[in-house]
Amino acid sequence: MLEYIDKKYKPGKDELVAEYHAEPAYNVSMEQACEQIAGESSIGTWTDICTMNEKIAKELKPHVFSIDGNEIKIAYPAELFEAGNMPQIYSAIAGNIFGMGILKNLRLQDISFPKSIVKSFDGPAFGIDGVRRILKIKKRPLVGTIVKPKVGLNPKQHAAVCYEAWFGGLDIVKDDENLTSMVFNKFEDRITETLKMKEKVEIETGQKKAYMPNVTAETNEMLRRAQYVKKIGGTYAMVDILTVGWSGLQTLRKANLGLVIHAHRAMHAALTANPNHGISMLALAKTARLIGVDQLHIGAIVGKMKGAVAEVKNIGEDIEHKMIKGSKKQHVLEQDWNGIKPVFPVCSGGLHPGKVAAVIEAIGSNVIIQAGGGVHGHPDGTRYGAKAMMQAVDAAVHGIELKKYAERFIELNKALKKWPG
Ligand code: 3PG
Ligand code: 3PG
Ligand code: MG
Repeated sequence: MLEYIDKKYKPGKDELVAEYHAEPAYNVSMEQACEQIAGESSIGTWTDICTMNEKIAKELKPHVFSIDGNEIKIAYPAELFEAGNMPQIYSAIAGNIFGMGILKNLRLQDISFPKSIVKSFDGPAFGIDGVRRILKIKKRPLVGTIVKPKVGLNPKQHAAVCYEAWFGGLDIVKDDENLTSMVFNKFEDRITETLKMKEKVEIETGQKKAYMPNVTAETNEMLRRAQYVKKIGGTYAMVDILTVGWSGLQTLRKANLGLVIHAHRAMHAALTANPNHGISMLALAKTARLIGVDQLHIGAIVGKMKGAVAEVKNIGEDIEHKMIKGSKKQHVLEQDWNGIKPVFPVCSGGLHPGKVAAVIEAIGSNVIIQAGGGVHGHPDGTRYGAKAMMQAVDAAVHGIELKKYAERFIELNKALKKWPG
């Protein structure tokens, strides 16, 4: 059998390093588990094989170079991976190994990609600066809403809700993750109606606005829809990156349509929620940045989904954790990555005006804050909900206490009465 553990080994610059949390099954030692993880994810299998040769072993063998309790690090030679093929990379380092009987739990915590692999992906076409240029907003957080109900409105009703939100002052309106092309709301009709409203409101307000249509679908159809958006003057494509898969996301990015890619992470919790098993949000976020999304949902930190501040602090290498713990400029979406542009973090899910300051406090101003219920649930409707959100952002950006600010603005005042927490 090959031996993969070598604690003296120093990973080379051209190697991919994967960090795992590994829990061996009953009666299996940590060393046995490490050997099997390294082998199954690269050149090995459960037993020794007569087809192995020295050349393969020498050139392609990974090394488990760190075992610290249940946390292990493996360096993989870059040749094990097909450059530019993210599904293949995941089939290796996040593939069969999750289902091995010798493991009780396994979690891919972090991935460091070598330059040769980084170079084979496009990264974001626009990134934070590009998006800010399109919207002509230099420093403040961007603010948006998700049309609600998630599904059910027809194209004209949908477009009317968008109009109200934009007119109330929001920068962005997006489709929800499960709204694509429905019998009651066909994709083309919705996009046409909504972009008409965007044009109208841009003229009326003199402000740039963004509409993010959800193009999530089978890959050919997804591309066709994104091309349609481009053809009729849209600037964005929104996609559910995990349900379309890395392959779908690569297809959309490589089509180079000149559309900003907004990445929704629906389904991520199937991978990220169990702290002992699955794949961390950090690993998923790095992967999405490398492939080339411009904006990525990272959780609301103080919203309706898991990931509240106290919880997040215990998640280990999770993206929100790094954001709170580290310097505000240094979370993984904004770090300097050798020419791969920074990605706009999107905080969304259960937000409302009362939560805006906490989000900005945790992440900084380079953030897109979105509220669905927190806008359309305003007692006076969408337009006033939008105003209240913008007022809350104004207050936070200028360091004014929210309740004090609300004394001057009826919209914010009513929002805080409905959602005091
Ligand atoms: C698979 O992908 O199904 C495995 O490579 C099976 O290989 P094994 O029979 O050596 O476990
Ligand atoms: C999203 O897709 O981000 C959610 O629909 C947010 O909706 P909510 O603000 O109503 O929770
Ligand atoms: Mg949603």
